[in-house]
Amino acid sequence: MTFTVAIDGPAAAGKGTISREVAAHFGYAHLDTGLLYRATGRRTLDGTDPVEAARTLGPGDLGADDLRTPEVAQAASRVAAIPEVREALVDFQRAFATRSGGAVLDGRDIGTVICPDAQVKLFVTASDDIRATRRLIELTDKGHDISFEQVLDDLRQRDARDSARTTAPLKAAEDAVLLDTSELSIKDAVDLAIEIISERQG
Ligand code: C5P
Repeated sequence: MTFTVAIDGPAAAGKGTISREVAAHFGYAHLDTGLLYRATGRRTLDGTDPVEAARTLGPGDLGADDLRTPEVAQAASRVAAIPEVREALVDFQRAFATRSGGAVLDGRDIGTVICPDAQVKLFVTASDDIRATRRLIELTDKGHDISFEQVLDDLRQRDARDSARTTAPLKAAEDAVLLDTSELSIKDAVDLAIEIISERQG
């Protein structure tokens, strides 16, 4: 059985948590596609060519422990605007999406480009302030010394770049269900996502 859930949205809107929890609930595999771009972007900080970095990504790159920093996030968003970088990462994502047993993929272009035929598409959003607050807590919990303004700035810059690029920009698929998590607890957002997916499973 293949069953694909595509979860897109801007940075720190809650996609990651929702995807993880939903995958655990249904016993589906989960792929955080942002990690592919973060790992590619991180390699460019060492001087590697972005296209070469994307084509030769390995498990070691994806397991690096500094992929969550704003510096790497910015590098990810810069390489993500390069069509050849995106092209190099397509096959892996599509193969993951169609593995048997069900899959949840979260990113920016899953419902629009990677899996246009996904059985369920969610577009997760939240206000800028809420997103920055959540990301700030996440980063300070991990020991990063960063201010609210720096986090907000990173999110806004990335959203602007991700939305403006020509190839696979950040946008909701026409048939995506919008899920605004600004006023929802994590549990309520996850429960809502589970409800929407259950309905589609028939
Ligand atoms: O989701 P995350 O914040 O980890 O993504 C980091 C960056 O990777 C995003 O800002 C975006 O530029 C890029 N990305 C993308 N397409 C995806 C997933 C992430 O362009 N499917």
